Amino acid sequence: MSDGRVDGLLSDLTLDEKLRLVRGRPDPEGRATGYVPGVERLDIPPLRLVDGPLGVRDREATAFPATIALGASWDPDLARRLGRALAAETRARGHDVLLAPGLNIVRVPTGGRNFEYLSEDPVLTSAVGAAYVDGVETGGVGATAKHFVANNQEHRRDTVDAVVPERALREIYLPGFRAAVDADASAVMAAYNRVNGHYMSENRRLLEGVLRGEWGFDGVVMSDWWGTHDAAAAAEGGLDLEMPGASAVELFAPHSRWLRAMLRLRLSDRLDLDPPLLWRLTDRLADEGQPDPYPFDFFGDPLRRAIDDGLVAEATLDRKVRHVLGLYERAGLLDGRSEGSARWGRAGDTAPSVDWDAHHDLAREVARRGTVLLANDGTLPLGEDDSLAVVGPNADEAKVGGGGSSEVTPTRTVSPVEGLRAGASRVTFERGVKRVANPSMFDLPGSGLRRRLRAGPDFDAAVRAAADADAAIVVVQDGATESEDRTSMALPGEQDRLVRAVAAENPRTVVVCRSSGPVEMPWASEVAAVVQTWYPGQADGAALADVLFGADPGGRLPLTVGRRFEDYTVAGDQRRYPGVNEHVHYDEGIFVGYRGFDRDGVAPRYPFGHGRSYADFAYADLAVERAAAAGGTDGDGTDGGGTDGGDLDAPAIDVTVTVANRAGRPGREVVQAYVEPPDPPGATARPGRELGGFVSVALDPGERRAVPLSVPRRALARYDPGAGWTVDPGEYAVVVGRSARGGRVRATVTVG
Ligand code: BGC
Repeated sequence: MSDGRVDGLLSDLTLDEKLRLVRGRPDPEGRATGYVPGVERLDIPPLRLVDGPLGVRDREATAFPATIALGASWDPDLARRLGRALAAETRARGHDVLLAPGLNIVRVPTGGRNFEYLSEDPVLTSAVGAAYVDGVETGGVGATAKHFVANNQEHRRDTVDAVVPERALREIYLPGFRAAVDADASAVMAAYNRVNGHYMSENRRLLEGVLRGEWGFDGVVMSDWWGTHDAAAAAEGGLDLEMPGASAVELFAPHSRWLRAMLRLRLSDRLDLDPPLLWRLTDRLADEGQPDPYPFDFFGDPLRRAIDDGLVAEATLDRKVRHVLGLYERAGLLDGRSEGSARWGRAGDTAPSVDWDAHHDLAREVARRGTVLLANDGTLPLGEDDSLAVVGPNADEAKVGGGGSSEVTPTRTVSPVEGLRAGASRVTFERGVKRVANPSMFDLPGSGLRRRLRAGPDFDAAVRAAADADAAIVVVQDGATESEDRTSMALPGEQDRLVRAVAAENPRTVVVCRSSGPVEMPWASEVAAVVQTWYPGQADGAALADVLFGADPGGRLPLTVGRRFEDYTVAGDQRRYPGVNEHVHYDEGIFVGYRGFDRDGVAPRYPFGHGRSYADFAYADLAVERAAAAGGTDGDGTDGGGTDGGDLDAPAIDVTVTVANRAGRPGREVVQAYVEPPDPPGATARPGRELGGFVSVALDPGERRAVPLSVPRRALARYDPGAGWTVDPGEYAVVVGRSARGGRVRATVTVG
């Protein structure tokens, strides 16, 4: 950042004022999740940051589908549109930065925040994540890539040390963040956890070495909330902004409800305390105006002391202030005339008004496009004259999201029962089994009791209703939340028993699975159809009705659905998960998700990339050739010489395949190109296939289209800890088809 305005301000700021710009404070109005107060004397106004990935967490906003549903769309254009909509709502609520997207890889199938992430695969995560970032940024709001990096479990997330081999870091966990930086993300949020021995808020190697040094990131690195541990280490390690920076007294001010709720979340995993107990405790303290005992204030007095004592150079602080002011400048907050403000087009303009109906429709579209039709014996789509028995403990509520900082208060909701009633004339509803709790960090004491007082479920009545209907729709769900992992992949409560009992009575039983990630589906072969809708957001039931009555969903699995937890490579050894003595060892290396299933020869229930269509697609005429710009290897076969800065995004292989829709209805196909290791194989173990590129295409009835795809060098490269990115010369096979296991056509190309 060489902008004169920033330089000028920097020379005018006193030490105290500089410190005010690198440490958050509670928002005096209690609405922003994070707030930098600015410096009034120099007309530097407050900067406002707000959660989060599923929607804006300030009063009411559109509750969009969970990020994992967006991943399931495999559609960067859709992600860009969603990013734009989120930006508009962020601005309409008066904020400058959105604390999203979440770009961690789904490593643990039961991870508590899987719903906030995109995929188990770095290529899919990078493509959709970068487009999301681009949408937010071009919508005039700063995007925050989080949680950097290896925050792949919630269990002991704020102390655990993720011991990750360099190759796995480079090939699996870092690419999504690099893609976000390339897409010009304004900010990066450091994860709570440690990586290879150092807290991410002070991980100099990854923050200064990789993020800034190799990737050229010049935006703001902020801590996760209360994720700073030491002033000098964080200052030298590359952190710019401590969040939320609330002091004890401020935290318990009446407007700090969000902050207290977040603190509760954070302490519940640190202290292994029951969240309701923490709720009572923290609110009691708030009532009594008591200060809390925790120091969350490292970039306040402790940083000043570190500077006074010569432990941290003032120039280091200046660099942080420069990054923060750079963000101000992008937001047009400095004087509206500075160079950078044009970038967001915000100079002097007013916040846009939001077309909430259009955003509800977008939420519905994303929910539909993220829906994965896992199985269908022809029962779907339903006929409009079918009588339907809707069964399921929570089928009368929209599944708006998971618990934690991503919770959104929706502008309105459509439950599955409401959505289906709008599409069919005869719809009954029976809960069948006890309601599944939707954990919330904002649950008020007593709300659980109100729910318990609702009419009890009647299992037999649900089964009878199913028997009497033309088709039974069983809506099941899990209840995941930030700050804890799910305890198992099984659906909570008696939902499996309910599915089986209904399926035994009605051969046209459709299961609708609203889950944060993969769940066991022991009844999969007993039911007519399985529809995976993740956490579909506020338009849940409307999108569901669209799909069940015939709109082609278009979603494909962004992760592998195994039969059981033990099928995943993280299982079987406490070292790998949940960790031993605060260390979790990524011993499986790069063999995460489908890479692990393939290595171990384990058949998943549904493979990565799988999803059916109501249409019927044929593949032919695969042509693969070395891309004109590819140029083979760089003589010595390495690319980037040990860094992440090589031209890995240049196309390496051009692919064209003809896809024909043989059905009499329109459909959407996600064409997926997987790369197999080269022949001759090198000494380094490589996955049997890895996603290299993909494209989502809508085809009219009978339409045939040549679909071009590009596979970048990155997809051929492996990371060698000594030599860096390496493209081994040899013959690479490209397999194109419908999933990681659904190859339809194959061709080879020689590279290098
Ligand atoms: C979460 C972040 C979130 C922050 C502020 C933390 O608990 O990990 O994702 O942005 O709180 O709410």
